[in-house]
Amino acid sequence: MDFSIAADRRNTNSIKWNREAIENISANPDAEPFWVADMDFFPEPHIQEAARTLAGLGIYGYPSSPKDTSAVSAWLRMKHGWIVPDERIIFCQGLLHGLALAMNLFTEKGAKILVPSPMYRPFRQIPERNGRLLIEHDLGYSGGRFFLDRERFTRDAAEADMIVFCSPQNPSGIVFPREELEFVLQTAKERDIPLISDEIHSDLVHPGAKHIPMGLANERIEAKCITLFAPSKTFNIAGEHCAFAVLSDPGMEKAFRDAEAALWLNETAITAGELAYAAYTKGFEYNRDLCRYLGENVKAIREYLAAACPELRMSECGASFVGFIDCSAFYDRIEKEVLSDPGKYSGGEGGGVLSRFFGVNASVAMNDGTWFGPSWKKFVRFNYGTSRDRILNALERMVKALRAL
Ligand SMILES: Cc1ncc(COP(=O)(O)O)c(C=O)c1O
Repeated sequence: MDFSIAADRRNTNSIKWNREAIENISANPDAEPFWVADMDFFPEPHIQEAARTLAGLGIYGYPSSPKDTSAVSAWLRMKHGWIVPDERIIFCQGLLHGLALAMNLFTEKGAKILVPSPMYRPFRQIPERNGRLLIEHDLGYSGGRFFLDRERFTRDAAEADMIVFCSPQNPSGIVFPREELEFVLQTAKERDIPLISDEIHSDLVHPGAKHIPMGLANERIEAKCITLFAPSKTFNIAGEHCAFAVLSDPGMEKAFRDAEAALWLNETAITAGELAYAAYTKGFEYNRDLCRYLGENVKAIREYLAAACPELRMSECGASFVGFIDCSAFYDRIEKEVLSDPGKYSGGEGGGVLSRFFGVNASVAMNDGTWFGPSWKKFVRFNYGTSRDRILNALERMVKALRAL
């Protein structure tokens, strides 16, 4: 695959490239999108072939079954060294569906949910929409790195009825070290509360970093652990909403299966099933090359910023294609500028100060840090799942806009 060629996604019904949606967050409908978490690369060729075969047959009736989960277990074993029996892997219609279902099933209304922040926004919305309460808990941040602040985590977890973790983390892209994962598991175990780990970004770990699935780390600890993962980010097929769950506790696993069956949510759509199967059985090389390309993108971003604008810094990361850029050094000046000219920045009410500033002055659309929690207004999330020349051009425009302040 040549990842230096980004697909032209205009007019493809992509939310990331939708002009109204872009304007809503950036105050500029023509800003180039570096926001929604999907990539601009063409998918893995075998996935394309599976889609073409399906379209060639022209039959879109009910599939005979979800494809067997042996392809999924083989992937987990090969990619992460995690051995999970096929029959323990449960299909979900998207990762957030699995997460919301587990939260509803294993906590009561009014339960307190601990989600470390910055957090992917649906992690805040799912508790709210389901009558649960969010415990505000910020990750530690120092020297450009996010980490688990163990003392605060223990304190905040003392009130929690459930922990929801994101590993590797969106928006920062950090890969948690084993000790931090074990600490979280141990906390859940001691409190006897369930722990959900969203691992949708776990197959996009850059060379040099190592992701450990929570379910694997849990084999020694035996907390009530629900690990969720998906082929969607890995292979850029997120529009197909297909994910998987592994529950460490057999009783909880049965309850989860029963709840899915009761709501008739346990059947795979034909396209989602075919694409996921092609991805997991034939996508290893593509995935390896993509992880390399993404790692090199991070290196290129760091090198560019270090030379052109060292005050702007991408926080440390080892996975995914999204990263958090720390704009603290410029924030006060940017805020003054944005507040002083509401007309210039109008239309971007769905965004924040930074996303509107860069949208209007650099034509770069990013998710504002406030999207990920109240403490993060001085950050933006930058999606670097695209060609390097697009990235470097965007950074150049951002730096130019800052210099003109
Ligand atoms: C951490 C995380 N979880 C879940 C999702 C969405 O998953 P799905 O579309 O399968 O519900 C995303 C998409 O950006 C994500 O970043």
